[in-house]
Amino acid sequence: MHSEYLFETRGLWAGYGGKPVLQGVDMQLRPGEIVAVIGRNGVGKSTLMKSLIGLLPIDRGTFEFRGQSLDKVPAHKRARLGIGYVPQGRDVFPRMTVEENLAVGESISGGASREIYDEVYSYFPILAERRHQRAGTLSGGQQQQLAIGRVLIGRPSLILLDEPSEGIQPSIVIDIAKLVVELNRKTGISVVLVEQNIDMIRAMAQRCYVMDKGRITTRLAADALEDRETIRRHLAV
Ligand SMILES: Nc1ncnc2c1ncn2[C@@H]1O[C@H](COP(=O)(O)OP(=O)(O)OP(=O)(O)O)[C@@H](O)[C@H]1O
Ligand SMILES: [Mg+2]
Repeated sequence: MHSEYLFETRGLWAGYGGKPVLQGVDMQLRPGEIVAVIGRNGVGKSTLMKSLIGLLPIDRGTFEFRGQSLDKVPAHKRARLGIGYVPQGRDVFPRMTVEENLAVGESISGGASREIYDEVYSYFPILAERRHQRAGTLSGGQQQQLAIGRVLIGRPSLILLDEPSEGIQPSIVIDIAKLVVELNRKTGISVVLVEQNIDMIRAMAQRCYVMDKGRITTRLAADALEDRETIRRHLAV
């Protein structure tokens, strides 16, 4: 492992019930980078995120984070090492209040200060306004903000964001993109972003991995992301 990387996967294989999905994923992230993973539906993007957070075991290959092998480290310990995971579909607890959902983030990450709650509420003022409201009554975009706020409570150094734009209004998509970029500039937080929304990819990503059939097939540098047509072509590989 090169010390310049926050994490590195080498030849990662993972799948479900013996059926491989990831078939040798090689990717690296430097500290402070925002990198997107794009590709058609079903190519294995969410499977990659689940194996990075440890919800799915790695069958072959290696995953190192801050120079430490995480191959055998369970998800809850990865969270405590500073990896925050925002799953596709958000998964907030609908019957719990906004504040109770944030407290779940605190318990997953192993504790938090009062100030971080205020910080998260300052990033997402709508959550402060609705803090005693049940999460199930929020709009999709507000629930997405809550899901992101919930991982920020643990002050992660890396967040894994799986299709945050899915099913939410365009105006909130842009708000979320701006907020994450601002956080990245301010705190140096690193981000792996799975996305199909071109505006969000262009607003957030510094570079991009294109995935197909469980492998990284193309790497796009910053200049390639300036051209919408290039991104569109790779989303439809
Ligand atoms: N829990 C599961 N059990 C069995 N197969 C699964 C499971 N989850 C996903 N798969 C299969 O693994 C493959 C990759 O799915 P994955 O969810 O990683 O794709 P994706 O790239 O995230 O797609 P999308 O863009 O639709 O979110 C698909 O063939 C899918 O049907
Ligand atoms: Mg997915």
